[in-house]
Amino acid sequence: MIRSAPTPRELLEIAVTVARDAAATAHRMRAEGVSVAATKSTVTDVVTAADQAVERQVVDALRALRPDDAVFGEEYGAGPTGQAVEGGVRWVVDPIDGTVNYLYGLPYCAVSLAAEVDGEVVAGVVRNVATGEEWTATAGGGAWREGTRVRCSTETDLGQALVATGFGYDAGRRAHQARVVAELIPHVRDIRRMGAAALDLCLAAEGRVDAYYEKGLAAWDLAAGGLVAREAGLRVTGLSGKPAGPDLVIAAPPALFDPLHTRLAALDASGGP
Ligand code: IPD
Ligand code: CA
Repeated sequence: MIRSAPTPRELLEIAVTVARDAAATAHRMRAEGVSVAATKSTVTDVVTAADQAVERQVVDALRALRPDDAVFGEEYGAGPTGQAVEGGVRWVVDPIDGTVNYLYGLPYCAVSLAAEVDGEVVAGVVRNVATGEEWTATAGGGAWREGTRVRCSTETDLGQALVATGFGYDAGRRAHQARVVAELIPHVRDIRRMGAAALDLCLAAEGRVDAYYEKGLAAWDLAAGGLVAREAGLRVTGLSGKPAGPDLVIAAPPALFDPLHTRLAALDASGGP
């Protein structure tokens, strides 16, 4: 039997259904009380029981709906089905992006779920666990927030730009990132460090910040929010034409991209540990 490849729209419908249920679980578990279940790269890189339970729920739901797809997540990694076959679908999940905010009860944390086909993200959803705000995108189909198309900022002056960023968990990396921010802040309107990369990208998608950059993002932080940002008109790349990835993600409207890129390159924003 030959099965036709799912369309981005079909994948997005599945992603939204699964992400809404996942966000409901995260919301309920937050209300019941949260504590640290484990730590990962450093003592401040925490995992809560909800991170683990939500990812399990997402994996189980995807397996039930699309048993042949691969799933790659933050907490359990690739597992036995993490690698997509050629032409197949791979789902990329961050069960809770902004785990530290979640732990502290700050309303800036999200479920992020994306579908890739042949390594390209074609559909993605980011849903704020605390507020229910939800952003979606399909490749070529635009970026949306709850039925309204969103577009990035039209700001053209870096000096007037509100720029979001984030810091990794490793102390050495943070020290380097702090030096970059210290040198950048005199040249922009201001800096925001809100604590969830996927949401930062979605805010940039609707001009609630003008641009965003960060070193050290993992695939699950970037997949869905990166598509939302791109489909809203931002350029989303690394330094010097490299693809966005762990070395650096710059998401900026076309008019701000070059001046921000120039500053970040001069400050060695992709360098350090
Ligand atoms: C983190 C958040 C944070 C960013 C870090 C990420 P997590 O993800 O997105 O804003 O600065 O780089 O690791 O650990 O909360 O899923
Ligand atoms: Ca996470």
